[in-house]
Amino acid sequence: MFVQFGKCQIELVQGDITLQEVDAIVNAANSRLAGGGGVDGAIHLAAGPVLMEETRRRYPDGCPTGSAVATSAGRLMAKHVFHAVGPVWGGGHRKERELLSSAYEACLNLAIEHNCESIAFPAISTGVYRFPKDQAAEVSLSTTRDFCLDHGRPQLIRFVLFDEGSYGAFARVLEDLATADGQS
Ligand code: APR
Repeated sequence: MFVQFGKCQIELVQGDITLQEVDAIVNAANSRLAGGGGVDGAIHLAAGPVLMEETRRRYPDGCPTGSAVATSAGRLMAKHVFHAVGPVWGGGHRKERELLSSAYEACLNLAIEHNCESIAFPAISTGVYRFPKDQAAEVSLSTTRDFCLDHGRPQLIRFVLFDEGSYGAFARVLEDLATADGQS
């Protein structure tokens, strides 16, 4: 499904983010940029060793939670990978929502800085970091909708949800945002 907000389209698909043909792919990384399992493992495997070489060389101090850094994309069909660090869910009273929102916003700002017209996000923090999917969907999609309305770029923001449960959670929230925006 997709919804238009101003000049931007927010799209939801179920699938594997490493197969997306977009200008930038977002990785759900850790603050040491040390690689891992989940989407991080899949992206490094598909992109090749150049990604780890570049993160080590350019970002030896890692990346703080709630922020993101850019690298090239190796063998992926994208120009850039943005390595975003979402928060570990700790019950909801440790600024998890603010930090998740700020990780998405950092990626969208990097997209503008690197002239990307399209970007694909995974559901950051909803795997190993245990952020509840419905709350993650609310934070991720409302942050993205606000960014679209403020900046009018990038043209396409695609959320690539790995499983049916994640797709359902994001679809419910996107429908609500469309209704609130006056789209039926
Ligand atoms: N494409 C899209 N989404 C994927 C893929 C994929 N190929 N593989 C996994 N996912 C989904 C998961 O199902 C989950 O919904 O990405 C979401 C985020 O899960 P994680 O990858 O576990 O990321 P996160 O919860 O942010 O935890 C980050 O995990 O792998 C480590 O190095 C990483 O330490 C960091 C931590």
